[in-house]
Amino acid sequence: MKIGVSKEIKKHEYRVGITPQCVKAYRNNEHEVFIEKGAGIGSGYEDEEYKNNGAIITEDKESIFDSCDMIIKVKEPVEEEYELLHDGQIIYTYFHLAADKKLALTLMEKGVTAVAYETIELPDRSLPCLIPMSEIAGRLAVQEGAKYLEKEYGGRGILLGGVPGVRRGTIGIIGGGVVGTNACKMAVGIGANVMVLDINAKQLAYLDDIFGSSITTLYATDANLEYTLKESDLLIGAVLLHGEATPKLIKQSHLKLMKPGAVIVDVSVDQGGFAETSRPTTHDDPIYIVDGIVHYCVSNMPGAVARSSTIALTSVTLQYGLQIANKGIEEAIKQNDAIAKGINTFHGKCVHPGVAKSCNIPFVPYTT
Ligand SMILES: NC(=O)c1ccc[n+]([C@@H]2O[C@H](COP(=O)([O-])OP(=O)(O)OC[C@H]3O[C@@H](n4cnc5c(N)ncnc54)[C@H](O)[C@@H]3O)[C@@H](O)[C@H]2O)c1
Repeated sequence: MKIGVSKEIKKHEYRVGITPQCVKAYRNNEHEVFIEKGAGIGSGYEDEEYKNNGAIITEDKESIFDSCDMIIKVKEPVEEEYELLHDGQIIYTYFHLAADKKLALTLMEKGVTAVAYETIELPDRSLPCLIPMSEIAGRLAVQEGAKYLEKEYGGRGILLGGVPGVRRGTIGIIGGGVVGTNACKMAVGIGANVMVLDINAKQLAYLDDIFGSSITTLYATDANLEYTLKESDLLIGAVLLHGEATPKLIKQSHLKLMKPGAVIVDVSVDQGGFAETSRPTTHDDPIYIVDGIVHYCVSNMPGAVARSSTIALTSVTLQYGLQIANKGIEEAIKQNDAIAKGINTFHGKCVHPGVAKSCNIPFVPYTT
């Protein structure tokens, strides 16, 4: 296959679809790889590194979209890229089509095979290409929260780890899944007091086993939530109900329970956010203050650490990309159910029930 990688043009997106190491893997399987000039720069990969691993560096995006069988990206095509889409092309990237009907219809109209990272699903219902980004966002949540607790940004001026003779800060984590567990690791690491709340007792037991006495686990009742709001210097939103909007657990009236200058990092903002007062922000303007509480609500947190994120993402996407390239899309779908679940549009039809339902377009089960 001819594999193409274009430079991401979405605002503040510095990740890239494949690393030079991935190029080597595709080349070892006898595929050709075309990389748009400068595509890896944001993640610290020079054209030379791609070239040394067997890629061909191409000046323009158009020829990549024109001639390659599969385009590997990170973010969904943005409007300027729509005219580059065409029949028979495979695009392998994050799409989030459930929230983007216009793009779903465009992909169908153009006859693109859209393989979405976020819907590739294993038999245990886990989403292998989403997990690494949640791991990164969870770890970053503590780092960012610690920064915005600084007085300069409107925070309480609290050092989360404390110092001898000074009390440690408290971090409340709401939702103990992938984001929550990774936030927990960092929170324990910097020596803060940590409380984790979840509605899943099994998950709380798991966290209790892993972290022992260094954290407190609490069932997410209203009373425990209010207690956590009062105690926390940093509150992290890490709640998810699969396929649904995030429940608004924190009402605006709850903010007055919190300490002035406390920070909310709402990681779940990409699904609507766990606080009534959350609204998506960007890396160039990440925070705002409501009722004295600093809100950090960046919806693409992993973009801040583009190199780590690119390595984490491509480590999981490579295996499915290789299977598609080696077997062809139809055989890969037949042989691997996880890949089949990743297909969102195929031959002009929407073949993913969740996307069809959310976009209110007809669902047509996949057939070859
Ligand atoms: N902002 C970003 O850049 C970014 C990056 C990655 C992930 N995310 C988002 O972070 C959120 C969490 O993702 P995840 O991978 O950790 O999901 P996950 O499914 O692994 O964990 C979610 C947890 O929330 C718990 N939960 C559900 N309802 C709850 C409630 N009412 N009270 C307390 N806990 C509750 C679940 O039991 C589960 O343990 C998602 O919305 C995801 O899209 C955002």
